[in-house]
Amino acid sequence: MLISFEGIDGSGKSTQLVMLREVLEDRGLTVVVIREPGATLLSESIREILLSTKQTITPTAELLLFSAARTQLVEKVIEPALNEGSIILCDRYVDSTTAYQGFGRKLDLDSVRLCNRIATRGVMPTVTFFIDVAYEQAQQRMQFDLGVGEPDRMERSGRDFFERVRYGYLQIAVDEPERFMVIDGSRDRLEIHSDIFSTLEPLL
Ligand SMILES: Nc1ncnc2c1ncn2[C@@H]1O[C@H](COP(=O)(O)OP(=O)(O)O)[C@@H](O)[C@H]1O
Ligand SMILES: [Mg+2]
Repeated sequence: MLISFEGIDGSGKSTQLVMLREVLEDRGLTVVVIREPGATLLSESIREILLSTKQTITPTAELLLFSAARTQLVEKVIEPALNEGSIILCDRYVDSTTAYQGFGRKLDLDSVRLCNRIATRGVMPTVTFFIDVAYEQAQQRMQFDLGVGEPDRMERSGRDFFERVRYGYLQIAVDEPERFMVIDGSRDRLEIHSDIFSTLEPLL
């Protein structure tokens, strides 16, 4: 089963992913954790290019680079892990592309969807948890993170961009309510975790 976490940086995706991993492993399940873009050599190299502030990248180049990283990940890691019956927890997946490149960068949504179909090879999450927090709250949370350096290229995109991204995520929730869960991320991490786990438990 593939489960993805979505939301802007600082929303609490990684925090929830770690908490979920623990309870799943306590139940004896095999869990594979993946961050996007990444998890293969090629995808990590593409990640470096995408997050570097050394050069500008056009929105379409950005779309294709994220998609190239994803498709390598799907074929090399996700499909084999699914075949072995593992639970895969993905820190971002295809909805990030719809929200960031489609709504955030304002690329043509049909082209983005086509690109997503190619990159995922049709492999979609069973459940996606969109951890919804306001931009300011996410920014505040990240301020307290030790060891976080300068904002990366995506993080420099500014407030209006992130408002469009959030709207994009909420639009996906309207389009795909069966899969895409909106979680109120403004709450305590334990409350959020219990929401996530109670949604997932019947599916295990
Ligand atoms: N529910 C929460 N309430 C308060 N702070 C949180 C909560 N969830 C996460 N944090 C903190 O906010 C920061 C960003 O969380 P993180 O999980 O790294 O977000 P993301 O992976 O979405 O960027 C971290 O310092 C984390 O400890
Ligand atoms: Mg994270």
